[in-house]
Amino acid sequence: MIVGIIGVGHLAASILSGLLRAGVEPASILLSPRGQAHALSARWGIPLAVDNDDLVTRADIVLLSVRPVDAPAAIADLPWRAGQTLVSFCAGVTISHLEAGPARVMRAMPLTAASINASPTVCFPAVERAIAVLKKLGPVIPLGSEDEFEIATVNAAVYGWAQDLIRQSADWATAQGGDAVAMRKLAALTFVAAGRLIAETDRPMETLIGELVTPGGITELGLDVLASEGQPQAWQAACDTVLLRLSGRSKA
Ligand SMILES: NC(=O)c1ccc[n+]([C@@H]2O[C@H](COP(=O)([O-])OP(=O)(O)OC[C@H]3O[C@@H](n4cnc5c(N)ncnc54)[C@H](OP(=O)(O)O)[C@@H]3O)[C@@H](O)[C@H]2O)c1
Repeated sequence: MIVGIIGVGHLAASILSGLLRAGVEPASILLSPRGQAHALSARWGIPLAVDNDDLVTRADIVLLSVRPVDAPAAIADLPWRAGQTLVSFCAGVTISHLEAGPARVMRAMPLTAASINASPTVCFPAVERAIAVLKKLGPVIPLGSEDEFEIATVNAAVYGWAQDLIRQSADWATAQGGDAVAMRKLAALTFVAAGRLIAETDRPMETLIGELVTPGGITELGLDVLASEGQPQAWQAACDTVLLRLSGRSKA
């Protein structure tokens, strides 16, 4: 089975790294010859297609990782065939704007943690053969509708905000006199620990958090300060704004 990639930029480089780490043979991947494709082909020995026509002719699954605005044009007039799957990573581009003839179309939203096989990746609709490829990059979460997928796409931005919170926590602790390397490691692994404890149990989140927030304790103290400074309204406003952008684009 050949996995082709149209749009070899930042996300595709992470995807490629993850696929290779998962043991996928370079010869079973095919790159559209633009962006970082020549450099990554030289580094990892991954074949280059002549053009997108050649790529779609030879690939069984095609991953689309161009900028959203470029998506419709990048896949237009290509030799799509039945039995083939197009997987679009393009944020806010609805299935109705992804014309791939008789090929099946699945949307998915991987994170750059795909490079270390740790991306939680949502998808819709579920196409098993394509999901098998995404599972090499981390856990896959199939969703029930395209509207739900759009809501979940906001999480791709939340991922960046979480990294920014980690950076802020580490920088603050370093400025107080902490060792920069130790503080970076501590902040990052604290977020990993917080997420894993919620992901690996089905106990209510309110219960888990309630166990942390002892009356008069430091967690409560900090939450009170965050509330007086506009949290959680600020976070929710950011989520609302991103969803509006995504939904606006999808109606375009
Ligand atoms: N970055 C992320 O973390 C992330 C996460 C989730 C989803 N996404 C989605 O992934 C997509 C790509 O994001 P990105 O950050 O990787 O963008 P990027 O770095 O700008 O990469 C896009 C690549 O697409 C290439 N391209 C454009 N039109 C093409 C065409 N017709 N045929 C072949 N290649 C073409 C560009 O090549 P040239 O340089 O030659 O123009 C460029 O290398 C976006 O739709 C985004 O919504 C990104």
